[in-house]
Amino acid sequence: MKKNIVLIGFMGCGKTSVGGKLSRALRLDFLDTDQLLEEEFGCTIREFFAQEGEEEFRRRETALVQRLSDTLKNTVLATGGGLPLKTQNAEFLKKTGMVFFLKASEETTVARLCGDTSRPLLAQGDLKENVHRLLQERMPLYEAAADYILETDGKSFYEIIREIENVLC
Ligand code: S3P
Repeated sequence: MKKNIVLIGFMGCGKTSVGGKLSRALRLDFLDTDQLLEEEFGCTIREFFAQEGEEEFRRRETALVQRLSDTLKNTVLATGGGLPLKTQNAEFLKKTGMVFFLKASEETTVARLCGDTSRPLLAQGDLKENVHRLLQERMPLYEAAADYILETDGKSFYEIIREIENVLC
């Protein structure tokens, strides 16, 4: 087993919720790149996007994941939904640990994100159209960045965690 577990996937796929529960089940630490960045910025991601823009956010994500790839031990790491899309970031994640892609269908994703106001990329326009377009663009990149693709639709947290544990054994 590699020393860390990395969770990637689209917004709303459950990386943070699964990550927290998985870390407790495996007695590992838990970190979330969005939370780490918000601590570093001293404001929310939404505020950071508004003040500094997406390009600067992506630059800070890369700097963070590079640091983590050198230092992280015994940790479940949940990542922001756009983080694994850059090839360089995907390489840092693979270096960090075993990468699980939590895959959810478009319908499940839209249902989970309905009413959410924290994600700047979904703040404007029609949610269904935005999710459709972004998923089309991103799906091949998530799949390429993953060591294991885990279909989450219709599965409980318990089943998802069991599946990850089985892959690790
Ligand atoms: C983003 C996903 C968000 C956050 C930012 C950008 C994306 O994280 O990093 O709003 O590009 O998909 P979550 O996947 O945790 O929502």
